[in-house]
Amino acid sequence: MTASVTPMLELARQALANAYAPYSRFRVGACVRAESGRLYAGCNVENAAYPITQCAEATAIGALVVAGERRIVEVLILTEGTTPCAPCGGCRQQLAEFARPDTRIHLCGPEGLRATTTLGELLPLAFGPDALGHPTP
Ligand code: THU
Repeated sequence: MTASVTPMLELARQALANAYAPYSRFRVGACVRAESGRLYAGCNVENAAYPITQCAEATAIGALVVAGERRIVEVLILTEGTTPCAPCGGCRQQLAEFARPDTRIHLCGPEGLRATTTLGELLPLAFGPDALGHPTP
């Protein structure tokens, strides 16, 4: 396990413990590393109108943006099931806004790191800010 994973996993564990998932009972913790090196964690936040659920990754990305950061250089996602759990399609798109195709995404379980992939592997040919023809924010 690479050294960078350990602190990210610890923050994701703390976040997962606070997940609000009374409907799915599927708790998720996430941690993103910003270009500054600072870490931002998040958990999923559900509500009674099920489709409006906020994923753990979105919570972590929001914390990074609130802090004034714009670049994600590493991602970790923690779930409790028995198999590695990759981010949903919506989260891949949200990550693509702030990360690059070679950004590593660590998939973890309670026992630790299960797999490492990249955003480019999970979201090839992504639609991103470049496609709009504006300068990249
Ligand atoms: N969930 C996440 O937090 N991240 C993902 O990438 C996939 C799904 C959450 C949403 C919902 O609260 C629960 O997992 C079950 O879908």
